[in-house]
Amino acid sequence: MGPSDSSHYCSKKFYITTPIYYVNAKPHIGSLYSTVLADVGARWNKLRGAQTLFLTGLDEHGQKVADAATKAGRLPKEHVDALAPEFTKVWQEFDCAYDTFIRTTDDYHVKAVQTWLQQLVDRGDVYKSSYVGWYCVGEEAFITEKDLIIDPNKKEPICAFCGRQTRKLEEEGYFFRLSAYQDRLLEFYKTHDDFIVPKERLKEVVSFVESGLRDLSISRSTLSWGIPFPTDTKHVTYVWADALLNYISAIGYGDSAREKEFAYYWPADVQVMGKDIVRFHAVYWLAFLMASDFALPKQLMVHGWLTLGGEKISKSLGNVIDPTDLYAQYGSDVVRYYLVRYMAITQDSPFSIEDMENRATTDLANDLGNLVSRLSALVLKYIPDGVVQTPQAFEESELALQKECHDMLSEASALMDELYYARAYARIWKFVQQVNSYIHAQQPWKIVKTDMVKFSQIMSALVHALHTIAIVCEPIIPQSSAHILATIGKEYAPACNKDYITICREPWNDTFVVRACEPLFKKYDIQK
Ligand code: MSP
Repeated sequence: MGPSDSSHYCSKKFYITTPIYYVNAKPHIGSLYSTVLADVGARWNKLRGAQTLFLTGLDEHGQKVADAATKAGRLPKEHVDALAPEFTKVWQEFDCAYDTFIRTTDDYHVKAVQTWLQQLVDRGDVYKSSYVGWYCVGEEAFITEKDLIIDPNKKEPICAFCGRQTRKLEEEGYFFRLSAYQDRLLEFYKTHDDFIVPKERLKEVVSFVESGLRDLSISRSTLSWGIPFPTDTKHVTYVWADALLNYISAIGYGDSAREKEFAYYWPADVQVMGKDIVRFHAVYWLAFLMASDFALPKQLMVHGWLTLGGEKISKSLGNVIDPTDLYAQYGSDVVRYYLVRYMAITQDSPFSIEDMENRATTDLANDLGNLVSRLSALVLKYIPDGVVQTPQAFEESELALQKECHDMLSEASALMDELYYARAYARIWKFVQQVNSYIHAQQPWKIVKTDMVKFSQIMSALVHALHTIAIVCEPIIPQSSAHILATIGKEYAPACNKDYITICREPWNDTFVVRACEPLFKKYDIQK
């Protein structure tokens, strides 16, 4: 199911994107967070049988990147070429299995942006004018007066969003008629109240648009690091107008040979981003798409910030956590699990190593890891070839476990589809605990001495339950999921229209060949 192989398009598709990251410094834990969330969404939909396209990439133009290159003593292109592999390395370490990786300096993207701008000019949505304003390089945006903080000790006002000093810019340039889209945008929000997840964040967007939209400057003449404006090459394209287009250029917009691919994947099903850039996506991006008569993305999944000591983790604050260090110490699954399960998208979340070690010990090593090793040891001790057959019938206690499993599948699937991954995995862990309670209640190590029939029933019920757990955990802890499946002799092979959730709901009548397994997770010394 290659992303550009249009001859094999599946009836169900799922297109998910991350923001493209500024290449001013190496990726940090905040960048990893957006990417892991999108990876979980992509894996979940693959598991449901959709043809999934997961796009990520790099935002390589603009003042911020140009300034970082100057500071590093490199040309901008040298700078981004040197840093790009740092991003792909981290995504690989953390099993972020993107299908397409875009860099905004790629030729096909440059061409797509120019084609799009030319069309806007032709349609009269872009005009030339001049502008004076305060530009914030951190935000890569002009800041309106109400969002400027005047500091009597500083020459330039401060940006209220990120606290950095703005620069005064006075230039002639090209403007997009954003103001013309105000009513259509408001109408869209009104009729699509689930467009932003979590819903509460839509309110901020609505009040921003209601307060009045001004036309948007989409070119710069004082900067040379950018995509040349097609009708006037003394100007380069404003970095956000260039960057947002990546979501469609990556799937073939602007290339006549890829029309089918574009028609198949667009609109995006879910676009993941942090709350700091929701305005760019929920206002500018939608207006750009409206201007081109393209469908609008179905949902924006907007997460809060990861914080350290109460402050946003950010490159400019210098409090970054290097994902590669985390990977060296904890591997991929522990970090992914902690980010997705405990950093809820609905709020800012403190990232704490101690808390992560705690959760890894209790949830992963104790709840899940012990369950797997205990089950494998029990089976191999009493069923030497490890073959766990389906019993003639299950008793009430096993049927009750099966019902808990089905309830979990319904509730967790609904939460996953609503994009509340943290809550979905909390629900899945409730089931892991129910399975542990079932073992404690049944005491198979005692039953085996007197009643081999009941023992087989218990083992079969447990392996079926574990199979389902391994499947639903694939998106969040793919490596451990693969180990569990190998331990119970199963493979995971997602395919078009093969819905693993439906498969997990089938009657428990499978045979499993259980193997010995190494401990899946490490325990951390919590006292330390
Ligand atoms: N280049 C733009 C996005 C363009 S998309 C067309 C950009 N890049 S960024 O590198 O600054 O940020 C990318 C993503 O990382 C954003 O979703 C942002 O919210 C996220 N994070 C950066 N720091 C973060 C935290 N401390 N916590 C959580 N996510 C944060 O914006």
